[in-house]
Amino acid sequence: MIKLGVNIDHVATIRQARGGIEPDPITAAAIAELAGADSITVHLREDRRHINDRDVKILSKTIKTRLNFEMAATEEMQKIALEIIPHSVCLVPEKREELTTEGGLDVLKQKDFLKQYIKPLKKKGILISLFVDPSPEQVKAASETGAEFIELHTGTYSEYFDTKKEDEAFSELQQAAKLASELGLTVNAGHGLNYWNVRRILAIPGLYELNIGHTIISRAVLIGMEKAVKDMKDILDLK
Ligand code: PXP
Repeated sequence: MIKLGVNIDHVATIRQARGGIEPDPITAAAIAELAGADSITVHLREDRRHINDRDVKILSKTIKTRLNFEMAATEEMQKIALEIIPHSVCLVPEKREELTTEGGLDVLKQKDFLKQYIKPLKKKGILISLFVDPSPEQVKAASETGAEFIELHTGTYSEYFDTKKEDEAFSELQQAAKLASELGLTVNAGHGLNYWNVRRILAIPGLYELNIGHTIISRAVLIGMEKAVKDMKDILDLK
């Protein structure tokens, strides 16, 4: 059975809209775990636009499943990862101006750097995942870094879902997953998956875990709306 990693970044996005304390991603992580999430992912971005240092520190102590710490391969993030010791680190490219992670890591271009970068993390027992586009060159390069996992970028498949280009994007994912497994990597996937396009992904053999965020948080807002309004009405009706 494919495992589900829940990305809770956008709970923090809502909190940051007011700069206050609610909704708290720590509580969201606990509820996700109680609902069956197999792991919790957070991306601590350089600009701290959603998840912040306090969040990762507390989550590293309170998460009962696995904390997957998504980060850019910078000195600052390496230091934080070595302090909090998450279960796994997923290295992603990061551009300041992007709305979300736009593409996979160019492992081919920075293979030697990444090999050295992950060494101290691996030494502490942290599992390493590299977020890559479903291209054979990137998958092969990832397998030569010492990383245990790759996370295949499903963004293109998600974008082309239900269009003429869907089959081609799906087939690239399928082939990349096959190659990665043959090269001894454990294969995760994520980005842009939702309640509709995820079904086809289940047909890819050997996938270990899907990391899904935006669609789950979006649904949580809508599903929770009725109860939230009723709770407020109950208070107003007291008078
Ligand atoms: N995996 C990675 C590496 C990501 O960067 C993201 C987005 O932060 C996700 C999965 C989750 O993507 P989404 O929020 O579109 O489900």
